[in-house]
Amino acid sequence: MEEFDVLTHINKVADHVGESVRLGAWLYNKRSSGKIQFLQLRDGTGYIQGVLLKKQVSPEVWEQATNLTQESSLYVEGTIRADDRAPSGFEMDVTGIEVIQQADEYPISLKEHGVEFLMDQRHLWIRSRRQAAILRVRSEIISAIQNWLNGEGFTLVDPPVLTPSSCEGTTNLFHTKYFDEDAYLTQSGQLYMEAAAMALGRVYSFGPTFRAEKSKTRRHLIEFWMIEPEMAFVEHEESLRIQESMLAHVVRHVLDHCKSELAILERDTSKLEKVTGSFPRITYDEAVELLNREGMEFTWGEDFGAPHETKIAESFDQPVFITHYPTEIKAFYMKPDPKRPEVALCADLIAPEGYGEIIGGSQRIDDPSLMSERFDEHQLSQDDYAWYLDLRKYGTVPHSGFGLGLERTVAWICGLDHVRETIPFPRMLNRLYP
Ligand code: 4AD
Ligand code: MG
Repeated sequence: MEEFDVLTHINKVADHVGESVRLGAWLYNKRSSGKIQFLQLRDGTGYIQGVLLKKQVSPEVWEQATNLTQESSLYVEGTIRADDRAPSGFEMDVTGIEVIQQADEYPISLKEHGVEFLMDQRHLWIRSRRQAAILRVRSEIISAIQNWLNGEGFTLVDPPVLTPSSCEGTTNLFHTKYFDEDAYLTQSGQLYMEAAAMALGRVYSFGPTFRAEKSKTRRHLIEFWMIEPEMAFVEHEESLRIQESMLAHVVRHVLDHCKSELAILERDTSKLEKVTGSFPRITYDEAVELLNREGMEFTWGEDFGAPHETKIAESFDQPVFITHYPTEIKAFYMKPDPKRPEVALCADLIAPEGYGEIIGGSQRIDDPSLMSERFDEHQLSQDDYAWYLDLRKYGTVPHSGFGLGLERTVAWICGLDHVRETIPFPRMLNRLYP
């Protein structure tokens, strides 16, 4: 083989038409018709077909190519040619091959497999075209969110993962030991982000959160990632405007930067094109009326389940905010509406097309005595939350924040039935492997 200083990547071959290049790749499929072999190659950045003519390569190269198994790793050299018939627009006329490893028989063939089998093979499954496309969209969503927040003056702050107390109720706390003390994996960084907002104004966290949910639904993971912005001097309405601007930016970014991934996923992008900001807002009361009107029985004071959220979302093209939930059914830290204290200054953002709640947020209680009362009502120890109460004692200000669930957002934008495919290695009720 020729000596090459650098490898080319498949997503850069457009810059090398007519040139001889070297790629590092895996073979994902192969076809042959006697005197010609078609090697389907991938290198993580893209896919390209390598064309090998028997009469143009040495017998050794021909022999090596003949023996290649699925997922064998190799270096390939050849000339890049533009070809309108190729899905990527390019092909490679292969001149040489250097096999790194002839792979063992690969467990995932190109035919259909059951989901449980694929989940057991998750470490290999992520190499497949669809799964790799999802992970790339996930990465683009993360960077779109971070770029937007950074541009709006937010500072990234990292809250702890090991915590002494709960944020979102005690039923799904993930218990562990911290030497001799009891500890919990974080359910949400929010309480710490409130402290950070009093130090830095506008902050956000991005990290893993844990809920020992005994529920086995398409929307629940035990370990999931959340983006949690928290903003000093921002009240309920302004928080909603920040949420819709951020999400509209994210959807636009994915539409512009992930065209080939969305095509692989066969996503109906016309639905996403409608997400342009100014999301509709309905109150919890109006949502209850809507459900009753649509023939779904629902009593004021209950929480919405997935079928309710889906029914409500059906009336809108864009994500919809449901605001002012009963204070009773929401978290201890939410500020009651001063005009009507039985409802809270809060909103859940429900994605279109039945993907459910992707953001939960609220204005926070800023009054120290009300906060202290809430600890008692929710049977939270005054001692455990003394530091959190301090935030209300030393220069309290109105403040709001929200948490965006990354996996549900990825599921919606990619159009996936289940959140298990939105995270590289899902942690679910019955799955800790691989
Ligand atoms: O509505 P949640 O529970 O809100 C909070 O944790 C707040 N402390 C956030 C804040 O105000 N800083 O969770 C926020 C979002 C949900 O809307 C949902 O998208 C996602 O996190 N989420 C889950 N995603 C996957 N699996 C689970 N088990 C989830 N639980 C919540
Ligand atoms: Mg919620």
